[in-house]
Amino acid sequence: MAKSKIVNDHGIATLYVDDRPFFCYAGEIHNSSASSAAFMDEEVWPNLRGLNMNCVIAPVYWELIEPEEGSFNFTSVDDLIAGARREGMKLSLLWFGLWKNGESFYVPAWMKKDTQTYFRVRKSSGEVTRTISPLCEAGIQKDKTAFAALMKHLRETDEKDATVIVMQVENEIGVLGTDFDYSPEAVAAFTEEVPQAVAEEFGVSGTWKEAFGAEAYEQFLCCRYAMAVETIAAAGKAEYDLPMYANAWLKQYPWYAGSYPTGGPIIERRRMWKTMAPSLFALAPDIYVPYCADIMDRYAEDGNPLFIPEIRKDTVTASYCLYAFLRHNAISYSPFGIEELSMDPDSIDKPSPELMAALNIDPSAFDIAGSKEYLSAVYSFLKNFEPIYLKVRGTDQIQSWVRHSETDFGALLPFGEYDIAVSYAPKMPLKPLAAGAAVQLEKDTFLVLGMMSGIEFRPKDGSGKKAGILRLEEGSIVNGEWKARRVMNGDEQMRLNLPDQISCYKLVLYQY
Ligand code: DGJ
Repeated sequence: MAKSKIVNDHGIATLYVDDRPFFCYAGEIHNSSASSAAFMDEEVWPNLRGLNMNCVIAPVYWELIEPEEGSFNFTSVDDLIAGARREGMKLSLLWFGLWKNGESFYVPAWMKKDTQTYFRVRKSSGEVTRTISPLCEAGIQKDKTAFAALMKHLRETDEKDATVIVMQVENEIGVLGTDFDYSPEAVAAFTEEVPQAVAEEFGVSGTWKEAFGAEAYEQFLCCRYAMAVETIAAAGKAEYDLPMYANAWLKQYPWYAGSYPTGGPIIERRRMWKTMAPSLFALAPDIYVPYCADIMDRYAEDGNPLFIPEIRKDTVTASYCLYAFLRHNAISYSPFGIEELSMDPDSIDKPSPELMAALNIDPSAFDIAGSKEYLSAVYSFLKNFEPIYLKVRGTDQIQSWVRHSETDFGALLPFGEYDIAVSYAPKMPLKPLAAGAAVQLEKDTFLVLGMMSGIEFRPKDGSGKKAGILRLEEGSIVNGEWKARRVMNGDEQMRLNLPDQISCYKLVLYQY
């Protein structure tokens, strides 16, 4: 039995590993890093040390594990697992199968060359793309067989150790550069009646056009991609039942279908995806836009557990990390290209502007100067904070904030006897954003943690009283225990300001 599972823990979807909650303080490595054990040993594993991570998100490449049709070679996977065990890390694996970033980059050569059997998505002009069609049943069956073989191998070699704890099925799927798959197979299927499950869930009937009108193309593609992913995921789970999710290239400016991979598991199409791919525990966002917090808010709605496999890695990532866990009970947080955080920013080969534009990535998302220091401190803080967090999460005792935008100036957090007014420092280059959380430990006793924020306590409106500080301690949390360092008074008590590096205070208040 897999030792890793998603548990409903007092209403919060939580990843359990070895019967204990496990929060993935993770990072995703670059696409090609895991193709070579030597490269991992020389350039990647050493760079991950000192980041206070406990989990690495890394690809498994179909082209490497099934170079000859029907014969599997799992050396690259075994090497990855051996490296992770040596480094004391868990692994969350990405199945680069039929689809990666909307295309079919990682299918084995024997499949790539056979464009008859494994037919491609076509544009309305008839142009053939590099994406195998989600209608291509032969391709889906081959992917299913390969993924099931991978999961069987993981069960046989890793069930006892549970190094691999989560699987991502495919990567940023959907059709890119066209609003629909105009292959004859897709065009024919589009005129059929919607499947029974869709009719029941949406209360519709008839053809796709009749059922969904202007949304019909995208709903159809979502349905077909979700069906394909379900076929693949379910076959994998039958071999080894690890938690599985699908990740999304966000629907973002310029918003039209095909500018993002249409048919993918974007939250706007949650209903179709959840209906047709019930084996997945989450639809996960890859977040490179400037409005990360809005995306997190959205992807955490309606019981979709927040699992972030990819996010920007500039200094603001430390702030979003706090918000992901403390506001949205995230399961995983994982900046992309994590191995670079330990490198000299000037030595990094940044993706070209053309590539960034093709991937629709905000270029500043890849500026790493200063990030390692901020993110590793947040990961360490969160690990030590877990015992407290596990007691208060999901209750009114914890409230969290992050600066959402240029026009977001602060937050007013309501607690029983007090309100906490948080004012956000303006955005500064190479600094994180205002972020943090307040925890009410007792009626008048609070922990305040975070960065780039000013804190004031106010009694409830109408009480006619003021709030004062009886005792203010600066300190840290070690394995859930408060360790005071300085007792702050005089100048240091005039105003409580959380600086750029994550810091923590314990306060006892009174009213007068
Ligand atoms: C999102 C993809 O999922 C990643 O594999 C990678 O291509 C990044 N974009 C950009 O480098």
